Amino acid sequence: MIATESYKPKEFNLNGLNGISDKTLEMHFKLYEGYVKETNKLNEKVAAFLADGNVDQEEMPLYSELKRRLGFEYNGMILHEFYFENLKNGGGGDPESKSSFYQAAEASFGTYEVWKADFGGTGKMRGVGWAMCYEEPVTGRLSNHWISLHQTGEVAGFNPVLVMDVWEHAFLLDYKPAERPKYIEAFFSNIDWNAVEKRLKYAKRDSAGISR
Ligand SMILES: [Fe+2]
Repeated sequence: MIATESYKPKEFNLNGLNGISDKTLEMHFKLYEGYVKETNKLNEKVAAFLADGNVDQEEMPLYSELKRRLGFEYNGMILHEFYFENLKNGGGGDPESKSSFYQAAEASFGTYEVWKADFGGTGKMRGVGWAMCYEEPVTGRLSNHWISLHQTGEVAGFNPVLVMDVWEHAFLLDYKPAERPKYIEAFFSNIDWNAVEKRLKYAKRDSAGISR
């Protein structure tokens, strides 16, 4: 019997963010809950196919469609959790220059400002998706990437440390579609840098405390 323990939506207290309204967040939490529900549903349906111990040839078309949607729904759930968790009321500013994140940004991009230009630039790309700052496991370097939808462009094994939703639903109640740069500015003014710092796994490994 395949295990189908279901996921429960997490709660986030993000009232009063700067430039991202409570109304937007309320709607966004509902969307996120939809992904949790759909992920649970998909896992249950896949388990039902496997109840007889195998996938028959005639089941293949339906089974394939479920499998294709898993990455979309799973990441729709997980990326939103990363996103909400790296925001807070009273956040923002730049990370401390002594922080591992700041030092990793300098080690990877020369300066924190260049890292920020690259991350912000990634978020301004045309299309619907996410800007991701990952920590690369071999060198501990930071690496900014674009994800289309929720699942295209993920790098397996890379550690997400800062996640920004740039689907239009993330800002359309507050800004016009063409005003994504304003939303990105608002996003930056609410970043919980402590949450980002805690996610680093590899930059901290240096015994001298210096990011590689
Ligand atoms: Fe979203």
